[in-house]
Amino acid sequence: MPPPDTIAAVKGFRDVLPDESRRWRALEEAAERVFTCYGFGEIRLPVVERTELFARSLGETTDIVEKEMYSFADRDETGLTLRPEATAGVVRAYLESGLAQSDPSARLYYRGPMFRRERPQRGRYRQFYQIGAEVLGRDDPLADAELLVMLDRYLAGVGARATRLELNSVGDRVCRPVYRERLREFGRAHLAGLCPDCHRRLERNPLRMLDCKVESCQEIMARAPVAADSLCEGCRAHLAQVRTLLEQERVAYAMNPRLVRGLDYYCRTAFEVVAGGLGAQNAVGGGGRYDGLVAALGGPDVAGVGFALGLERLAMVAPEVEAEAPGPTALILPLDAQAVGPALALATRLRDGGLAVGLEPAGRSLKALLRIADRRHARLAVILGEEELRARRATVRDLVQHQDRRQVLPLDAGGPELVRALQAMIGGGQ
Ligand code: HAM
Repeated sequence: MPPPDTIAAVKGFRDVLPDESRRWRALEEAAERVFTCYGFGEIRLPVVERTELFARSLGETTDIVEKEMYSFADRDETGLTLRPEATAGVVRAYLESGLAQSDPSARLYYRGPMFRRERPQRGRYRQFYQIGAEVLGRDDPLADAELLVMLDRYLAGVGARATRLELNSVGDRVCRPVYRERLREFGRAHLAGLCPDCHRRLERNPLRMLDCKVESCQEIMARAPVAADSLCEGCRAHLAQVRTLLEQERVAYAMNPRLVRGLDYYCRTAFEVVAGGLGAQNAVGGGGRYDGLVAALGGPDVAGVGFALGLERLAMVAPEVEAEAPGPTALILPLDAQAVGPALALATRLRDGGLAVGLEPAGRSLKALLRIADRRHARLAVILGEEELRARRATVRDLVQHQDRRQVLPLDAGGPELVRALQAMIGGGQ
């Protein structure tokens, strides 16, 4: 417990300490490796955008826009918002940077913090991190399939095998209005059992009723008509082709006819990656097609498809990624005050040469220092005492193998020579 008068982090905002961030980095590096093979380049986006960008793209009646955005007025009264997601920002950048002309079928990936004022719980935070990928300018089912193959291979590569890909089509501007009307009729017939929020959704955005978290609503909506039965010919053919390609590449998926996403920009393909063992927050990632979004933001009528994974949740379902903390290769132990300067000089030369080196303060017994070296999981202890300084040779003890063997390191050697000598000691001991 922290002392009572310290300042705590804001509710829903958390620190990511080295044990966790090391695993995040492994997940990010794996994403970079895999996504690069599929032709994606990284885009770094601002975390703040104009509020209207999200209001216009995510949908005025979504939970995010209605109640979860961190919005504020800038000093000149411009309405700004901490981004709740990145797809809208990617589309804005695509239009603003001229990519829409120079590289109309751009493939962009991103990572970084997103902000939603949701009720915090395990796996749900107010600042959370996503890794996402977007393909612009492609309306063919091959683009959806390629993206899903990439997602599948990435998840397998990081060991997130206990995840399931759920797929649906939410229709397009031709058939969605028909489905919306069917849902409205169903909702009206079951009005008495629906929560006040769903009463509102019924008129404004009936698809949202399928996403309601209230148990009694869920029970009713489990019997509601599904989108698949209202799809137009174009949407049906698109979905069929995506499925054929996924099956060809042996991407496992399950159709979920009730899958609707929490954002309004989706069209046709919609999907989620879900995992058991995460409790209520079981979506590790989600995405889909957003063919009307670029036009809605003032651009040409260009299609898009993408996904985002939540890093916190991904780290929970890919537990074996880089779980071990790497100890320093060598821990330098100055025994007294005279050894402090030479110890720092030695550490700097080794670190300049790319070795992970720890350095302890002077003033403790050799026995105490060796105990520390053990706790830090150091491979080698480099001891610098009076005798060593006189002989200009540090004593090196291998803490993992041949623990009784002493070797020496010439203190006046150049950096590269020192690094080679230590590496030989590790290599020779194996
Ligand atoms: P989303 O489903 O809202 O989609 O978020 C994607 C993932 O972000 C979720 O599956 C979850 O893992 C994580 N996530 C969302 N909210 C939280 C939270 N409060 N705490 C922790 N993790 C969270 C999007 O954001 C779309 N932009 C995805 C997309 C890209 N669609 C097309 N392209």
